[in-house]
Amino acid sequence: MGQGMAGFSLAGRTVLLTGAGRGIGRALFVHLAAAGAGRVIAVGRDAAALDALSTLAPIATPYPADLADPAERAALVAYLTEKEPDLSVVINNAGTQLPTDLINPDAARYLPALAGEIAVNFAAPIDLCVALLPGLIARPSAMIVNITSGLAIAPKSGAPVYCAAKAGLRSFTKALRYQAEARAPQLRIVEALPPLVDTEMTRGRGSGKISAEAAAAEIVRGMAAAKPEIYVGKAKLLRAIHSLSPALADRLMRAG
Ligand SMILES: NC(=O)c1ccc[n+]([C@@H]2O[C@H](COP(=O)([O-])OP(=O)(O)OC[C@H]3O[C@@H](n4cnc5c(N)ncnc54)[C@H](OP(=O)(O)O)[C@@H]3O)[C@@H](O)[C@H]2O)c1
Repeated sequence: MGQGMAGFSLAGRTVLLTGAGRGIGRALFVHLAAAGAGRVIAVGRDAAALDALSTLAPIATPYPADLADPAERAALVAYLTEKEPDLSVVINNAGTQLPTDLINPDAARYLPALAGEIAVNFAAPIDLCVALLPGLIARPSAMIVNITSGLAIAPKSGAPVYCAAKAGLRSFTKALRYQAEARAPQLRIVEALPPLVDTEMTRGRGSGKISAEAAAAEIVRGMAAAKPEIYVGKAKLLRAIHSLSPALADRLMRAG
């Protein structure tokens, strides 16, 4: 289960996957199983959804937790550090998006929910990366995958804090990759940027969505190819447009 010259074998791996119970995470679970992953520690709040993963493939270890809660994140890290020495792939996929109208006299009522949005999308992946780094670095080969978004490249107007959290996670992931490339090259630091995907997060809005299944297939292919950045579907076009004209990318994404 090492890594070849060009790729990263997922065979036999012990994987941490957050947000595994539905959406892109559930589809990632299926594709990780198909790629031969040995076990997937599946995190989310909905314990029943995590239990149901075992009907898809017999490799799930459900771990119900609310990643917005720092104490629950610390308990998860303690469990992983003590009980899962073979952990070598971490996928920070859990996310939440809150449509918010901030030009609004009552905007302050959003503050508690926005704190939760920052916790799940930004604080949790950083916490898990930092806390799990020593164990991952000690492995012969390992990988962290942070799921950001095309909105990390250019924001839409309707969810400013979500976009900021994703842009922040993109920047964190890039800088962490620089550190690993220099001093721990056996640890791959990967960012995956999905386009609009048809899940509960996008229910009732957007057009031209791809399925969670298609997005997950591309992400797992990119992991196996050890790509540092996995631009999924139309995110490839957004990247190209942004490299030519950031202003045009902003204009295209603004309405969301
Ligand atoms: N859908 C899109 O168009 C799109 C586009 C770009 C990027 N993304 C990103 O892709 C990732 C997956 O999104 P999705 O579309 O699959 O969303 P989704 O269908 O809404 O699923 C979100 C997942 O995150 C978990 N989650 C949410 N809050 C949590 C919390 N407090 N603690 C633990 N787990 C939590 C949920 O599990 P529980 O509810 O059981 O906790 C669920 O498994 C997210 O990072 C999202 O930002 C999505």
